Amino acid sequence: MPNAAAPATEAPDRTGPLHVAIIMDGNGRWAAARGLPRAEGHRRGVDALRRVVRAAHELGVRYLTIFSFSSENWSRPATEIGDLFGLLRRFIRNDLATLHRDGVRVRVIGEREGLEPDICALLNEAEELTRGNTKLNLVVAFNYGSRQEIANAAQRLAREVAEGKRDPASIDADALGRYLDAPDIPDPDLIIRTSGEQRLSNFLMWQAAYSELVFVPIHWPDFDKPALESAIAEYARRERRFGGLAAKTGS
Ligand code: IPE
Ligand code: IPE
Ligand code: MG
Repeated sequence: MPNAAAPATEAPDRTGPLHVAIIMDGNGRWAAARGLPRAEGHRRGVDALRRVVRAAHELGVRYLTIFSFSSENWSRPATEIGDLFGLLRRFIRNDLATLHRDGVRVRVIGEREGLEPDICALLNEAEELTRGNTKLNLVVAFNYGSRQEIANAAQRLAREVAEGKRDPASIDADALGRYLDAPDIPDPDLIIRTSGEQRLSNFLMWQAAYSELVFVPIHWPDFDKPALESAIAEYARRERRFGGLAAKTGS
């Protein structure tokens, strides 16, 4: 990863996405197509993740959010859940030092409650060690579900109202947004889903209000820098209007 100092502010003419979020899907189908166990697809998915973290930084992305385990993935067989958790453990143990050396700041969103203590300890260690890094923010959505995240925020607001600390009239989108898991991180500009599926599957539903969605037919283990570049090129061809008028016809 190049060592160039990160700019303090973004160039106003930035055309590339500041924040890319990825639904890393298709590991199982990648493996099935090769007669391999699903676990092998997940293992190769971690290799793809390493490539893509590097590529994202090289392409000027400042925030990369990855969906690595959803709150609904608990419905998979226990052996597969064990494989996925094992890979997360190994990824943090093996890659944390390299990520830190490369200036990557790791953040984790999702529910920590109910996770095994050693997993929580690893997630905390990754966040603590890399807290001061500024090159790329790697946001790991683990045991994450958007509905739960929004419900948790609503619960915190409701508690403040019940305790007499908040006027219900003060509850607006900004107030709720401040109680999401990573309120300081800008909304994703681009959300990529691999494997051809075209849905959000409970990923960043609040934050995706104005994200550009790009669905890529390749399975996650095959995703690489050219695939990321081509998704970013597709993003650059889109016209983001945020409810306003097109730049050409507006004003
Ligand atoms: C993505 O691949 C990894 C996780 C959801 C954890 P899948 O395991 O969903 O692969 P497919 O969709 O079955 O091919
Ligand atoms: C979404 O993929 C979750 C992750 C990539 C971690 P899934 O494979 O779980 O989603 P569905 O079940 O196809 O919607
Ligand atoms: Mg899937």
